[in-house]
Amino acid sequence: MTSKIGIYPGTFDPLTFGHLDIIKRSLNIVDKLIIGVADNISKKSLLSTDVRKKLILSDIKTYFETKVNISIETVNGLLTDYAKNNNVTCIIRGLRAVSDFEYEFQMTGMNYQLNPDIDTVFLMSSEKYSFISSNFIKEVHILGGDVSKFVSKNTIDVLDKKNI
Ligand code: COA
Repeated sequence: MTSKIGIYPGTFDPLTFGHLDIIKRSLNIVDKLIIGVADNISKKSLLSTDVRKKLILSDIKTYFETKVNISIETVNGLLTDYAKNNNVTCIIRGLRAVSDFEYEFQMTGMNYQLNPDIDTVFLMSSEKYSFISSNFIKEVHILGGDVSKFVSKNTIDVLDKKNI
């Protein structure tokens, strides 16, 4: 039987518990999940790709069983090219609110035009994470707010060092 490989792409600057929730639920849909960390040219990241990947890895180790079939990779070029070259059958995206829809709709349409063999699957974010965004986490943290309900201790340690 062929295994279903999915990719969950994003900037993950940093990964939040909202992203972890989508990752956990994706594992019920695919046999293997690639977390595709974008070296996103249009979005300036606070954390380097390397640091973002290390934080994802440490969170996966902390919050998941050891046997999960997840790999964490950098996506440099087009997502659809990466997907095709790595036998990915579906792209997974989380939808937090209606406001996400328009952007996701356009991105899905473009990706479909680029490669109609790869479908996008949407998972609704759990209610308690529907308002989280990485930018808000960074803003609240730099202003001294408590973000421990939204990101891991390791992530807070890294953000602390960045804010010195
Ligand atoms: N829980 C919490 N936050 C979530 C979330 C969830 N379930 N889902 C999305 N978010 C947040 C992110 O934290 C991020 O917040 P921020 O804007 O404050 O940083 C925001 O929603 C959207 O981020 P993300 O899901 O990471 O998407 P993105 O817009 O940063 O990434 C890519 C988009 C990487 C998937 C897209 O740019 C891409 O595919 N790039 C590769 C190049 C390519 O193929 N381009 C053509 C695309 S048509």
